[in-house]
Amino acid sequence: MKAGVFDSGVGGLLTARLLRSLHPQADLLYYGDTVHLPYGDKSPQQIKGYVRDIGRFLYGVGAQVLVVACNTASAVGLEGLRAEWPHLPIYDAITPALEAFTHHRYAEPVGVIGTYTTIRSGVYGSALRRMGYAVKELATPLLVPLIEEGWVDHPAMEAALETYLSELGEVGTLLLACTHYPVIEGAVRRYYQRRGASVRILSTAALLAQKVARDLPPSGQGTSQFWVSDWSERFVRVASAFWGEAIALEPAPLPSTPAEW
Ligand code: DGL
Repeated sequence: MKAGVFDSGVGGLLTARLLRSLHPQADLLYYGDTVHLPYGDKSPQQIKGYVRDIGRFLYGVGAQVLVVACNTASAVGLEGLRAEWPHLPIYDAITPALEAFTHHRYAEPVGVIGTYTTIRSGVYGSALRRMGYAVKELATPLLVPLIEEGWVDHPAMEAALETYLSELGEVGTLLLACTHYPVIEGAVRRYYQRRGASVRILSTAALLAQKVARDLPPSGQGTSQFWVSDWSERFVRVASAFWGEAIALEPAPLPSTPAEW
């Protein structure tokens, strides 16, 4: 069963890599929408159009399962996918995280960081408050461009995290509600350690990869293919770092038609 995984840019490769490590036989088709990155500051209408085009591309190259490895796209762009392929298994980045909060009681307040669009959608805040959690949400829009630039262990990242996490204030649990964030989990952990704060960190990328790995049948050849909407040497370099080995990215532009959904 081929799994079509996508995100804006190459950050979603972190989810694909986790999935590969949990399910080495899985056949992966990855699409990174490098033209439209970051999604987090785009309108829901635009994002719906990108999601539709990527869904059609991945379905066209043989995906039998779709994995929306992007909180932003999951927050605003899913209905169209589900309407177009009602029988296709479609995994989003939000459901596994909310399931984790229903199966376990985490320390409060729960901090949620993600893109403008994810935070503004209120998808995490409203669900967690309904479960009785005290929640603090903060949009952290500079993190994705820094990550896509490969500036992970960089003073600019440290300064951005320092600013955002101190603005968020005290939390008992921090939900990384962006699939780009696994690469900065260590830096986030160090921030709290420096303050002597014990904070449980949950990653939406890891929870999504775990859910998909559990559900996929234990078969496949362990193949992988990667496409991007805009190809450049820089994307190849960053993608290879995220995937953990040299990667061949193929260019596959999306149709530029406006969203109709
Ligand atoms: N990784 C994505 C997410 O989980 C998208 C980030 C972006 O493009 O702004 O929201």
